[in-house]
Amino acid sequence: MTRALAHPNIALVKYWGKQNKTGNMPATPNLSITLSELTAVTTINDSDRFRFQLNGQQVNDPKVSALIATMTDTFSLPPLQIDSTNNFPTSAGLASSAAGFAALVTGIDAHCHLGMDAALRSEWARRGSASAARSICGGFVALVPPDWQAQSLAPTNHWPLEVVVAVTSHDAKAVSSSEGMERSRLTSPFYNQWLRSAGDDYAEAALAIATRDFEKLATVAELSCLKMHSLMLTSSPTLSYWTPASVACMDRIRELRNHGEAVFFTVDAGPQIKAVCLPESRVTVAKALSEVPGVLEILSCSLGEGARIIDDEEPLTGR
Ligand code: PMV
Repeated sequence: MTRALAHPNIALVKYWGKQNKTGNMPATPNLSITLSELTAVTTINDSDRFRFQLNGQQVNDPKVSALIATMTDTFSLPPLQIDSTNNFPTSAGLASSAAGFAALVTGIDAHCHLGMDAALRSEWARRGSASAARSICGGFVALVPPDWQAQSLAPTNHWPLEVVVAVTSHDAKAVSSSEGMERSRLTSPFYNQWLRSAGDDYAEAALAIATRDFEKLATVAELSCLKMHSLMLTSSPTLSYWTPASVACMDRIRELRNHGEAVFFTVDAGPQIKAVCLPESRVTVAKALSEVPGVLEILSCSLGEGARIIDDEEPLTGR
């Protein structure tokens, strides 16, 4: 039996749209922070046939089955029983698939003695879900050409950012990220402009992280997020992952920043708002967002480490 743990990551420069090639590669460079506290734990056991359980339920997940089929062919894997458990809402814009695939590949690599390095695990995780490539690494993480294997930009202790998550719905999303981004690629009139500006946004954010320039990071991260949601809104049929409370939280975060708090928002393909802040602003931000009508729950995270093997004693919420 082998157990692997991975955390979700939150993109500060987003990708939305893939290259028209095999390998599940994003169309644009992107970067993220890996969170602690939220975890996907995957247990791998030998079995008589392939089985996959998510949060205790036997499920048939086509992406998991496809990845396992390709890995089985490539590495002559034996049949495996895979059990994955998240300690946070699944498929609701909290990057559960990123954490899940990173833990899955890390667990299979160790259980089957495949001897992969982090770059290769990142490549295999990317085949499951492109954002999962980034959860292999901790801290500040880049996913860029030509290899599209995630690389560490800086470790967790480079800059102790905190993330306050305002959960505004527990429902699984109606349109998956893969389907949504393909719809935007094919139909949004802004898609080509998005491709053209992503490199500059990436460079600006990487520099802001290297120099710990919070204002610069806040500006470019909110812009990247809103450009991505503009692609969604201008897709045909339109896509909107927000609830009224998501919009209210973004307004509240702008007000907080105008009043001197070091905080900005980012939102993925879901209704949850992630408020990225400096440690001194965390309590104020968490309290303010908890008071926004429609906010169901507040989660607080700091930066976490990359995917790893854990033993039975290790606490599942550890960094
Ligand atoms: O790779 P996926 O299918 O998990 O899609 C991720 C898309 C976003 O989270 C919205 C953006 C990103 O860069 O993570």
